[in-house]
Amino acid sequence: MTIHKIEYSGRYTDLSHDQLVQKLKETLTTSRFEHVLRVEQTAVDLAQQYGANIEKASIAGLVHDYAKQRPDDDFIAVIKQYRLPSELLNYGNAIWHGVVGWIFVKNELGIDDLDILHAVQYHTVGHQYMNQLAQIIYMADYIEPGRDFPGVTEAREITHQSLAEGVAYQTQQTLKYLVENRKPVYPQTIVTYNAWVPKRN
Ligand SMILES: [Fe+2]
Ligand SMILES: [Fe+2]
Repeated sequence: MTIHKIEYSGRYTDLSHDQLVQKLKETLTTSRFEHVLRVEQTAVDLAQQYGANIEKASIAGLVHDYAKQRPDDDFIAVIKQYRLPSELLNYGNAIWHGVVGWIFVKNELGIDDLDILHAVQYHTVGHQYMNQLAQIIYMADYIEPGRDFPGVTEAREITHQSLAEGVAYQTQQTLKYLVENRKPVYPQTIVTYNAWVPKRN
């Protein structure tokens, strides 16, 4: 992984790169903060490879787990205030920090760019429509160099050959893991699976 030093244009956030990094350092635990930095760098690598917007990849990578350490009550309040599907209340932080977390990114970091917000929103359970940036963040979170699970090397290789195939691989592995361990499946995960995984001729 190349270490990228990124200058922000001011288009998507009023903060400089270093200010945004500082903000996350104050918000997150050390290990989560370091994960976020690796996701950012992986996302920028992928953006360079696939010709996506590097600045958006950097910002989305940095903020994707912004809400990860919020207390449950904060999420419950937002789910009610924004009248999000009450089905969400049956889940927890693992789902909420993406599906709901983008609202904190918007309201507290002042980031309004829809591509960035969608990338944050979709990074945990995916979505039937993920544009290139959303695919990059979904995959960067999965393959960043700190990840170590059976299949991670394959996941990295596939992602560097085809982003969409990477998305299919991760989505299939995630669903398989949930089913094999009798864990609940958030319905959007099934929708994501059907959109990305089956081979259609
Ligand atoms: Fe996350
Ligand atoms: Fe993450």
